[in-house]
Amino acid sequence: MSDQFEPRLIGFLCRWCSYNGADLAGTSRLKYPPNLVPIKTNCSGRVDPTHVMKALAEGADGVLIAGCHPGDCHYINGNYRTAGRFPLMKKMLEQLGVEPGRVRLEWVSAAEGDKFARVVSEFTEEVRALGPLGWRRLTDNDLADTADAVSGDVDPGAVASDAGAGRVQEAVPA
Ligand code: FES
Repeated sequence: MSDQFEPRLIGFLCRWCSYNGADLAGTSRLKYPPNLVPIKTNCSGRVDPTHVMKALAEGADGVLIAGCHPGDCHYINGNYRTAGRFPLMKKMLEQLGVEPGRVRLEWVSAAEGDKFARVVSEFTEEVRALGPLGWRRLTDNDLADTADAVSGDVDPGAVASDAGAGRVQEAVPA
């Protein structure tokens, strides 16, 4: 058995594009590391910095946010808001001593299983090189609890309707 550090990664995946891209990677039997636990969200715009902070605080070594390509968001501009917020979140995490490479934003469509596999492979290697974040060390059994705890905050139904889309836009500062 290898002593290689295996990073624990959480992936917030938009259900309309990136989650299906992950499915396609699986059904296409593409090989990529098993380090990422996916959490389905209705839009990348639903993921705010507190979700990322919580994932890291609960034991993740890195967090991926993946959504629809610009122009393809099912809530019109959720991913543009995500793109605007992401650099600020990275800066905030940097202030807390978290290396910028521990968070990553990607656009992955439902047809891009190969891209999903590549992103997860790259991200796993990058976070492996950074080493454990060490905010909290968990056993393997705790990782599923971490995903449950974080996904409990990302209500998948929160943006399922037009009213929900409005809530996303209200919740996310311009
Ligand atoms: S619906 Fe996919 S990023 Fe908004």
